Amino acid sequence: MQKIIILTGAGISAESGLRTFRDSDGLWEGYNIEDVATPQAWARNPELVQDFYNQRRKGVLEAQPNAAHYALAKLQEKYDVTIITQNIDDLHERAGATNVVHLHGVITRSQSSANPKLTYPINGWEIKMNEVCELGSPLRAHVVWFGEDVPMIEPAARLCATADIFILVGTSLAVYPAAGLIDYVPVEVPKYIIDPKIPEVRNYGSVYKIEEKATVGLVKLVQELMGDE
Ligand code: APR
Repeated sequence: MQKIIILTGAGISAESGLRTFRDSDGLWEGYNIEDVATPQAWARNPELVQDFYNQRRKGVLEAQPNAAHYALAKLQEKYDVTIITQNIDDLHERAGATNVVHLHGVITRSQSSANPKLTYPINGWEIKMNEVCELGSPLRAHVVWFGEDVPMIEPAARLCATADIFILVGTSLAVYPAAGLIDYVPVEVPKYIIDPKIPEVRNYGSVYKIEEKATVGLVKLVQELMGDE
């Protein structure tokens, strides 16, 4: 079975109604990213940060996977598929993807504020300020903030090195270390990029740029890869 590695970003969930980070006004749902997505923000105003992520979680739970998420799950019928996602939503899994690596965590779980390895399922949509982990520290969203380690980056890099086909969807490649993953994909491996605004990549080997929204460009590509055409 050929191995397909896919790196996804916020753009794949845009058509599910979840906003991307860098498409509009530089704000994330009205906030400066440093006011909500950093350890300093949590230290300064934990209630604000908790509430911000509770609202994002509510949005994720209300959203539905779109045709692009389902198309990637369909690839599993013919290929050995791994999705590496920067997204904190769980729409890949809800579309049926079985092999998903979350580089930046997943908002549907909580995390100990003392030890990032301790994560838990959340009952409902909200983490309350008085909820604590087994060590007695407050629970926060299981997401990677700016300035924090990205523990899944090494396994993700190793996966990229094993790809037979590589697909990049809906990411501006503005945030490292995730943006560097494409450099681990061997030169001879075909690479497809689907984005209405193709990000800059070092143009080596066979790079196919599909300048379309995910529900159009990715769905077409999957049809081709499945041999449905
Ligand atoms: N289909 C495909 N791509 C789309 C669509 C769509 N319908 N709509 C927008 N895009 C593209 C944009 O053109 C852009 O290239 O999605 C990309 C979104 O880029 P960003 O907002 O920068 O999101 P992302 O690359 O996922 O951000 C990376 O930054 O803030 C952090 O941790 C956060 O994981 C996130 C990381």
